[in-house]
Amino acid sequence: MSEHRFKTVAVVGAGLVGLGWAIVFARSGLKVSIFDGSEEIRNGAIARLRRSLEDMEQYGLVENVGDIVQRFHVVDTLSEAVKDADYIQESVLERVNVKTAVSREIALAMRSNAICGSSTSGIPGSEFTADIPSRDRFLVVHPVNPPHLIPLVELVAAPWTDASIVPLVRQEMERMGQSPIAVNSEIPGFVLNRLQGALLNEAWALYAEGTASLEDIDTAVSRGLGRRWSFMGPFETIDLNAPGGIADYAQRLAPLYHSIAESRRPKQWPADVVQRAELDRRSVLAEEDLAKRSIWRDQRLMALNAAFLTQARARQHGSSEA
Ligand SMILES: NC(=O)c1ccc[n+]([C@@H]2O[C@H](COP(=O)([O-])OP(=O)(O)OC[C@H]3O[C@@H](n4cnc5c(N)ncnc54)[C@H](O)[C@@H]3O)[C@@H](O)[C@H]2O)c1
Repeated sequence: MSEHRFKTVAVVGAGLVGLGWAIVFARSGLKVSIFDGSEEIRNGAIARLRRSLEDMEQYGLVENVGDIVQRFHVVDTLSEAVKDADYIQESVLERVNVKTAVSREIALAMRSNAICGSSTSGIPGSEFTADIPSRDRFLVVHPVNPPHLIPLVELVAAPWTDASIVPLVRQEMERMGQSPIAVNSEIPGFVLNRLQGALLNEAWALYAEGTASLEDIDTAVSRGLGRRWSFMGPFETIDLNAPGGIADYAQRLAPLYHSIAESRRPKQWPADVVQRAELDRRSVLAEEDLAKRSIWRDQRLMALNAAFLTQARARQHGSSEA
């Protein structure tokens, strides 16, 4: 497969996620053409990329920011961005009609053997690629925000995606330092947002009924569940939470979890509860400070990634000495 290695890539849609992808590609040495429908976003893209990369450099996550920035090319049309690309990452607005129109435009402009991955958070690819040319070259490649700091990527093929494409994209994502997983059916929300959805639905219910404050529910995750979740998943967690492992845990606690599930009925998040949550959040973080706090979040993620990197290097050093 090495002859299919991506060398030139295109990013279509340069918002939060598109720019994160641009960093993933460029830090691996790839040339990245960037297009966004908004001239304002295009004009600000390089400065935003440079700022993120300089922060990453402070945490030892990248070197030679100037060389990486040289690999970005912001262009004025979609066709110019994708015409020479081996791989295209589409990250435009999460609307079926927008994704359909942009995917068609990409298909008409891209090389016949190029591949296009969509960042969609949960729309099955077959809902927006059914009637476009070269639909066998399209799949979903769903990242977590921000993609340059959180490695998980969900790969979801449509029924018509060429069978060679998922293994090839998986290999290329691994080469770039991402952690791909295969989602074997086009289930809406895929795996990540279905798991997140289960937690959010329960968080809204606990908040709505007043069982705990919004802040305390966040603390239960940030200081509780999340501490383990940054390096192990729910199955490994419960395997270690009973002396006899996962089956022992299931035997001890399955009735509790069943009764919890039975106590809830699915429902929309109520508008008045969302409004109350908005007031709670705005009392601790003003709307104009959201962007600043996102930079803080990214820096916390950088510190965490730096710790993981130090640990991995120490392990590697230890094994080469052994
Ligand atoms: N934000 C997240 O947490 C997250 C996580 C994973 C995946 N995603 C997915 O990534 C995609 C992008 O989300 P985002 O959060 O970056 O949104 P965003 O609003 O920050 O960026 C979207 C960009 O697309 C551009 N755009 C819109 N229509 C276009 C068109 N026709 N042609 C070219 N550019 C166009 C907009 O100008 C904007 O800059 C969505 O599909 C979203 O569901 C988002």
